[in-house]
Amino acid sequence: MMFKRALTTTTAKSKTILSGIQPTGIPHLGNYLGAVNNWVRLQDVDPVTQVKPVNYYMIVDLHAITMPQRPDELRASKFDMATALLACGIDPEQSALFEQSRVRAHSELAWILNCITPVGWLGRMTQWKSKMDVSREKSISHAQILADESLTSGLRMGLFDYPVLMAADILLYKATHVPVGEDQTQHLELARDIAKLFNTTFKTRLFPKPTGIIPPSTKRVMSLRDPQVKMSKSDPSDSSRINLTDTPSVIQSKIRRATTDGVRGISYDPKERPGVANLVDILAAVRDISADQVIQSVADVQSTKVFKDMVAEALIEKLVPIQKDIERLRNDRGYVEQVLQAGAQKANAVANENIEQVYKAVGLR
Ligand code: AMP
Ligand code: TRP
Repeated sequence: MMFKRALTTTTAKSKTILSGIQPTGIPHLGNYLGAVNNWVRLQDVDPVTQVKPVNYYMIVDLHAITMPQRPDELRASKFDMATALLACGIDPEQSALFEQSRVRAHSELAWILNCITPVGWLGRMTQWKSKMDVSREKSISHAQILADESLTSGLRMGLFDYPVLMAADILLYKATHVPVGEDQTQHLELARDIAKLFNTTFKTRLFPKPTGIIPPSTKRVMSLRDPQVKMSKSDPSDSSRINLTDTPSVIQSKIRRATTDGVRGISYDPKERPGVANLVDILAAVRDISADQVIQSVADVQSTKVFKDMVAEALIEKLVPIQKDIERLRNDRGYVEQVLQAGAQKANAVANENIEQVYKAVGLR
């Protein structure tokens, strides 16, 4: 009995952390401060429980092909993302870093989950809905939208099914903790619902309910041109974002041109002074201090220009070592490929064992 209790406590404490990122090439500052940097930190021993987590980080290439991709560009973007993740501090000794498509069980589990997931659950996903003609979407039902080919003609089944594949990614490793951006919380909630549905359908306790690790809103990096919207890869203006490989002079010029206001002095007021608040948040994240501490440290700075130069300098200091590492890794393709292969091997060992349990529970074995 005592042994059993001891065993349960250990399991309760153990953490399996899993996350995925789309192969969009070199990440921008928003991806870095909002996601990747968090992944790096989550590799460490938990300061409270002293437990060393098990980490799986993947480049979700199967998700990427839910939108049209050019094969050569996709291959190149995957490689760029892999080098950037390593340069940012994902440590292959501590984490399995791999390409999703190298672990076939992701697709296999997605299929099985497809066979139990109600279509209606997917129709509610806002990310899917946002890809459709929004103006008409409001007045008609989802079934009507699906029936109207003019609304969905550019959309593919894979995109509709995207969240089920994401649930499969998470459940395949019985992940307990999933760091994701705010935009992914609905998908994560769906993964929790699917886990529960699977367990009740097949009278099993195979899948734990994954918990999200959502970064605070201050970790949302806003566009340098329009601080009301997120910094994004899809913004046509390159000066709206800092790319991790931007040279120091480019960083300086982008920050200098960042939209702020005419108010003197530096204060933190995301509503009234969104541009300045964004720069404060960036400086805080880069220096690993709070926005309040930034404000205290710039109490005697009156000019926005001086403040901007401080932000640019801090960014350059943070990004130059990462850039050097990216450059080094780009010239060492063999090493990057070896890391991805080892990561896939580690992931496959667990995934293959778990998918067999799924097959058994479902009656396929
Ligand atoms: P995406 O490629 O846009 O899906 O982003 C990949 C990861 O970076 C996700 O976890 C996003 O939540 C995060 N991310 C993207 N843009 C930003 C941003 N501007 N600020 C903070 N996090 C972001
Ligand atoms: N959908 C996520 C995004 O766009 C990426 C992703 C795919 C993911 N599979 C995942 C995130 C599993 C966490 C866990 O950001």
